[in-house]
Amino acid sequence: MKRYLITGASRGIGRAIAEKLVANDVQLLLHGRDTVALAEVCDSINDRCARVVRLIHDLAVPSGISDLIDQVGKNPVDLLVNKRGCRNRKALLRNHID
Ligand SMILES: NC(=O)c1ccc[n+]([C@@H]2O[C@H](COP(=O)([O-])OP(=O)(O)OC[C@H]3O[C@@H](n4cnc5c(N)ncnc54)[C@H](OP(=O)(O)O)[C@@H]3O)[C@@H](O)[C@H]2O)c1
Repeated sequence: MKRYLITGASRGIGRAIAEKLVANDVQLLLHGRDTVALAEVCDSINDRCARVVRLIHDLAVPSGISDLIDQVGKNPVDLLVNKRGCRNRKALLRNHID
């Protein structure tokens, strides 16, 4: 199964990309901050993909970035759509997603 990680998927461009990437053999890891909006996105696509995982973290703070990486885990990510960009490069460089 493929794993796709999309940040900023709770609305706008990120949500639209998530909806385009839905497939039966795909696990979507969808990130946002707004729990209600993200739940609505996940519920709308849940029955059309293998699995949907909600990731709720504020990427404006270093702990939010590391918590996101921890929750994604060590299993490989096949595609990253970093719709919510991150300027905190030091925090990203200290962490690794295989
Ligand atoms: N839409 C366009 O036509 C267009 C065109 C050119 C460029 N852009 C640029 O593309 C970017 C996205 O546009 P959009 O229209 O998709 O924006 P949007 O609808 O406002 O969506 C922004 C997404 O980023 C998330 N986000 C924002 N700050 C965050 C933070 N600190 N931590 C975690 N998540 C955060 C939001 O999460 P929550 O809502 O859950 O908090 C939301 O999912 C923007 O920078 C925009 O300037 C957009």
